[in-house]
Amino acid sequence: MSVYIDLKQKIKKKKAIITVMGLGYVGLPIALEFCKKGFSVNGLDTNLRRIRKLRKGMSYINDISDSEISGILKTKRFKVTADPKVLNVSDAVIMCVPTPLRKIKEPDISYVVRASKVLSRYLRHGQIVVLESTTYPGTTRDIMLPELRKSGLEMDKDFYLAFSPERIDPGNPKYSFVNIPKVIGGFNKRGTELGRLLYSSVIRKVVGVSNPEVAEVTKLLENTFRIVNIGLINEFAHLCHKLKIDVWEVIKAAKTKPFGFMPFYPGPGIGGHCIPADPVYLSWKARKVGFETRMVDLAAKVNRGVPAHIVERVGDMLKEKKIKFAGAKILLMGVTYKKDVNDLRESPALDIIEALKKKKVKLSYHDPFIPYLDVHGIKARSRKITPALLKKQDLVIVVTDHSDIDYSVIAKNAKVVFDTRDIFEKKKIKSENIVKL
Ligand SMILES: NC(=O)c1ccc[n+]([C@@H]2O[C@H](COP(=O)([O-])OP(=O)(O)OC[C@H]3O[C@@H](n4cnc5c(N)ncnc54)[C@H](O)[C@@H]3O)[C@@H](O)[C@H]2O)c1
Repeated sequence: MSVYIDLKQKIKKKKAIITVMGLGYVGLPIALEFCKKGFSVNGLDTNLRRIRKLRKGMSYINDISDSEISGILKTKRFKVTADPKVLNVSDAVIMCVPTPLRKIKEPDISYVVRASKVLSRYLRHGQIVVLESTTYPGTTRDIMLPELRKSGLEMDKDFYLAFSPERIDPGNPKYSFVNIPKVIGGFNKRGTELGRLLYSSVIRKVVGVSNPEVAEVTKLLENTFRIVNIGLINEFAHLCHKLKIDVWEVIKAAKTKPFGFMPFYPGPGIGGHCIPADPVYLSWKARKVGFETRMVDLAAKVNRGVPAHIVERVGDMLKEKKIKFAGAKILLMGVTYKKDVNDLRESPALDIIEALKKKKVKLSYHDPFIPYLDVHGIKARSRKITPALLKKQDLVIVVTDHSDIDYSVIAKNAKVVFDTRDIFEKKKIKSENIVKL
């Protein structure tokens, strides 16, 4: 029986054994979803701390509860391991390893390379492999495939390979892995079809595209679209401040137009694993073919400058109160890169903290998701919000608008609040001491 027919039957009957490589924000929800649908899943990770936690039924991702993990473990269909041998007994391998930036702001695909080398050692006849990590076009073909070929096996005869970008949005209560349509691109119709079939077991809509490069660059287009629009609205907010116009009200009015406009919102800067990294992946690849991504580079530059602008605004607010930066007491509300997640990666709060520390501000913070902070030589515990703590501050800055915070207490007790997220307007809290971005 051909590999194609065999895999098709196994997937349809839910007899295909799946291994997810990398159990992070992306990989863990995928692994659990396949388990829930009746598949046997191996969760393979190199991080032993994460493995220990999962084996104890503990989650390290907000969107996934401990009870969800322990419930899945009870089915005996979810095995968590650091032993790559499980790759050899799998029918489908889904790779979700990190693709961060190197210090010199270039793509770091070393995790994909290392994981592919490991996979190559255990690859066997009859498997489908899908890469999900966000990356530049050509990674699946030029980096992953040559590694897998070192196994001596032949693509399309012995195994299939495809790329499918992950679109998960941690902390989003409306859209999760199962109801976000998925794009998949194999090297030929059969590869795409097998991938489409595999994901259709857990996702409502799966869209096949012609090749891995289309799928790879689809993800970069989506995120670049966001970067450019966020850059535009951040610049627009800066302009509106100079013009003494409320940018939030402008956006609210503009979005009443039923076509041709999509609201994006300003904030303290961009963060997370995707938005700051993806333009670097795109522009790096563009340079390789002698192309300059001017729009993307400019948007990235504008966005990078936002935390400095926030600090400038803080300086103006202190000046108005005749308070110097050095020694000023400032409390940051929220330090994660976006609301309701426990992810600090590339958070603009870190740039703001670094800049304020350089100015010798007496800084403290509150974040229900980050009990302890150890960054830029700063070690601090999240402070409990009390009227007394708030009253002691010269300024409170809302950097991240987590849901589980009593904003009325802040408005009532802080001397001045700098709201970079327009959360007080959203909560319909009006107070003279609130300064909008
Ligand atoms: N976090 C998001 O919101 C998001 C959304 C869409 C796409 N992505 C992309 O998905 C990919 C994964 O992101 P993430 O946020 O899940 O990262 P993460 O750091 O949370 O998880 C990655 C996991 O991979 C493990 N790992 C590394 N090398 C490994 C190997 N050789 N074998 C097995 N496990 C290995 C790490 O230990 C870690 O647990 C990245 O490319 C990212 O850009 C992330």
